[in-house]
Amino acid sequence: MLMKSYARRFVFLLLAAFLALPLQRPQAETLPDAVLEELVRTSKIDASRTLGYPGNQNIALNEFYEWYTKSGLCSILLNNAGDPFAAHGALNALDIERKVVEFFAPLYGFEKETVWGLVTASGTDGNNHGIYFGAKLLKNETGQEPILYVSKESHYSNKRLADLQNIECRLIDCDKMGRMLPSALKRVLDPSRPALIIYSIGTTFKGAIDDIPALNAVLAEVKPAAVYRHADAALFGGYLPFTPYKDIVNSQKQHFDSIAVSGHKFFGMDEPCGLFLTKKDVLEKQTSFNIAYLNANMPMINCSRSALNPLKLYWITRKTGIENFTAQAEQILAGAAYLKEKLDAIGWPAWLGDKSNTVFFRRPSEAIMQKYSLAPEEDERFGGKLAHVVVMQHIDREALDAFLTDMRKEAGR
Ligand SMILES: Cc1ncc(COP(=O)(O)O)c(C=O)c1O
Repeated sequence: MLMKSYARRFVFLLLAAFLALPLQRPQAETLPDAVLEELVRTSKIDASRTLGYPGNQNIALNEFYEWYTKSGLCSILLNNAGDPFAAHGALNALDIERKVVEFFAPLYGFEKETVWGLVTASGTDGNNHGIYFGAKLLKNETGQEPILYVSKESHYSNKRLADLQNIECRLIDCDKMGRMLPSALKRVLDPSRPALIIYSIGTTFKGAIDDIPALNAVLAEVKPAAVYRHADAALFGGYLPFTPYKDIVNSQKQHFDSIAVSGHKFFGMDEPCGLFLTKKDVLEKQTSFNIAYLNANMPMINCSRSALNPLKLYWITRKTGIENFTAQAEQILAGAAYLKEKLDAIGWPAWLGDKSNTVFFRRPSEAIMQKYSLAPEEDERFGGKLAHVVVMQHIDREALDAFLTDMRKEAGR
């Protein structure tokens, strides 16, 4: 009798547990788990020897994160949905974003009183704003659709964005080193339509800087209906302001209307972001979007935007300062010259553009490509397969020498 009742209870409990199974929520796991630890392990190894992409791995944000967590700000949702230069409500870091833009404004030849801009999600996002603002300004001024002119060696984002924004795009031939050819621009420049031109200030693979005065001379000669100039300076826009060549990214000297720079390339951000800078009079010629529920005019493309990125850029610019950025710019240019010289010395075909931190060379073995995360490219004018090293702040002499030791072995020297 007793046995029977135990058995019945057991069966009942078993059944109840079985029925409750689907209702049970997964338990909170103990983190970090093995998956996350593995990410840390591999990232540390890869970051110490990555040479092929333009990210600065010398990141100094520990104190920022300490402040961010200790202050309690990490438990508050901030959202920079809005214009950093207009009145806005609470729970954002738009005032700090404006200060970041104002810090960078003079570095690109913009005046504090007349600059307008934002911290973007990336260099691509900055180019998206440049193309969008340029196209709208030209359309609003002339009533005509513009044509976008950009070099064949410019970053692919420009071509993708022209496609996305449904703008006719003409790709202009480049010289061997990757600079847009003024003669090629002249051949395809349509005087009857407004021109939206993108100047590459540092192409992605060869690090070429378009000859802006020569291209401006072509525009002055052909006289398209109206012209808007956007500078794509994703990487070089980071370091050029801190070199004797700073005028190349000065909008007043080179006469461009807007500029896009990546935040995570030179400046040492730990996640993608960027800058888009232009003038208030460009902003005034945009199509207005008055959004009642935000009580604002929203000139930028995105609604919700990161408040954390402006905070980190604010921290970085104030902690680093002009003097340190200048030393870093010197270091990367000297590193690139050193690498080129050493590759020449072992007889490995290598090239370095003017004012560039990007050395490109005949492509080595797959083992070296993998070990140093090198980026591949093809160009028959240089004998076919190529690779490049983008000398960033974490690539010191020791890192270059380790790479050169492998290259020397490969060259049989
Ligand atoms: C010249 C140029 N423009 C734009 C971009 C795109 O920038 P992001 O990767 O920040 O979107 C890059 C990226 O390497 C670039 O080299």
